[in-house]
Amino acid sequence: MPSNAYVAHAPGYVDNEGPKIVTSRFGDPESYRLSNFENAGGYNALRAVLNMDPADVHGQVRDAVLLGRGGAGFPAGVKWGFMPPVWPRYLVVNGDESEPGTYKDRLLMERDPHQLIEGSLITCFALGLNTCFLYVRGEMALAQERIAQALNDAYEAGYVGRNIMGTDVSIDVVLTWGAGAYIVGEETALIESLEGNRGMPRLKPPFFPAAKGLYMKPTIVNNVETLANVPWIVINGAEAYKQFGSERSPGTRMLAISGHVKRPGVYEVEQGVVTFRELFYGDNYCQGIRDDNDLKMFIPGGGSAPWFFPEQLDLPLEASEVGAAGSMLGSGALVVMDETTDAVKACLRVVRFFARESCGKCTPCREGTTWEEKILQRINDGYGRMEDIDLLRSIGDQISPGPYPTAAFEEQGLTAVPFPPRQTTICPLGPSSVAPITSAIRRFRHEFEAKCAPGATNGEVHDAEVAEHDAEVTEEVSA
Ligand SMILES: Cc1cc2nc3c(=O)[nH]c(=O)nc-3n(C[C@H](O)[C@H](O)[C@H](O)COP(=O)(O)O)c2cc1C
Ligand code: SF4
Repeated sequence: MPSNAYVAHAPGYVDNEGPKIVTSRFGDPESYRLSNFENAGGYNALRAVLNMDPADVHGQVRDAVLLGRGGAGFPAGVKWGFMPPVWPRYLVVNGDESEPGTYKDRLLMERDPHQLIEGSLITCFALGLNTCFLYVRGEMALAQERIAQALNDAYEAGYVGRNIMGTDVSIDVVLTWGAGAYIVGEETALIESLEGNRGMPRLKPPFFPAAKGLYMKPTIVNNVETLANVPWIVINGAEAYKQFGSERSPGTRMLAISGHVKRPGVYEVEQGVVTFRELFYGDNYCQGIRDDNDLKMFIPGGGSAPWFFPEQLDLPLEASEVGAAGSMLGSGALVVMDETTDAVKACLRVVRFFARESCGKCTPCREGTTWEEKILQRINDGYGRMEDIDLLRSIGDQISPGPYPTAAFEEQGLTAVPFPPRQTTICPLGPSSVAPITSAIRRFRHEFEAKCAPGATNGEVHDAEVAEHDAEVTEEVSA
């Protein structure tokens, strides 16, 4: 098979051996239908909860140590406890999933929408609120269709709306489609968008959403996968949940793996137990690198994450261990790149995404990401100057102050990039653009230098040519 066949492949869910919490119904091709969901035990958790004390339901989720799956990995039960006793209050479900490499929430919404609705309703009950906003990314047409159908069916069956299942509990779920902006996945930008404003992040502090969020009322924003875990926890209990995964990261999580592996796709794996090596090479998972090539680098947690290299393969997929090694598991998106990958091009591709998705609210991000893209483009096109390499690092330093290591080896005292990133910006999008640059330069500086060397790609380069080339790129970038 030609190697580009793997790249062209659009991966979906891959069934594998191991415990299943959120993908347990994915084997059923019609799992999105209400009748199939009910036949598989769906809405039993909600039924059970309606006879419980909301505080006990909250307690179950807190005891399970359900870590948020949207990126930061904050425990859901603890976050829920930050809400002051103020009403009305809201739950916002973050289904905006747009981090490069991430496509697990889309599958959850397409394949098991009722599970998400049930998890959201249970959360509303636990937090004593009666309005939930479910925000789905603009481009996800099938997820929108399935969620809308599921919600209509759930309303008709009496699982949502007034007097749920004949009780005095009433909860409404409001659907909103995004317009396709990555930044709206950031919780305060999402809240702005829900309020009808342009999706731009709010400055935090003074207000955090749990205290003052949507319409300045207490608001919990949770990721789709986080909430999809809730029915299982309620039915099986926190102790059963903690049987899976590691002590610090219980349960399972969905990982989306793309790039140069033989079997890319979304896998449900036990947290903190499986290592990157097992995931990329194991028969139960990705089954190795395409064409049996060597691994060059991988992104362990979405485009915002600093890159890892073969020496990190034996780390477990555990947030604190990955954090200590200088990166993050983030949204659970892994991008694998083999030895044939051009590091400069890969870096440019990720940075271009952030430059185009910058909302423009703060100068270091708005200007800096565009400069980064332009400089990387000219290096890649053979118009770069040697000093561009350090110029890139200097711009990165203005967006997300270092110091950044220049090499990846411990004997030089330079193992990990500062993480979490420091920022001169309102939200972490700007600093996210710095991660691929520092990762690529510290490890593959020679590739940048080779592209900048006079005559390397396009012959002797003069300042006038560079200026002309910059003008062309500027025109392209702003088109
Ligand atoms: C630029 C940016 C984009 C984000 N995109 C998403 C997203 O698409 N989905 C998501 O759940 N969280 C996203 N987040 C994280 C959210 O701000 C928030 O932390 C998360 O929804 C909380 O849910 P959790 O606690 O269940 O993880 C993003 C954050 C940033 C800074
Ligand atoms: S860092 Fe970028 S995306 Fe975030 S608020 Fe500032 S300009 Fe907008």
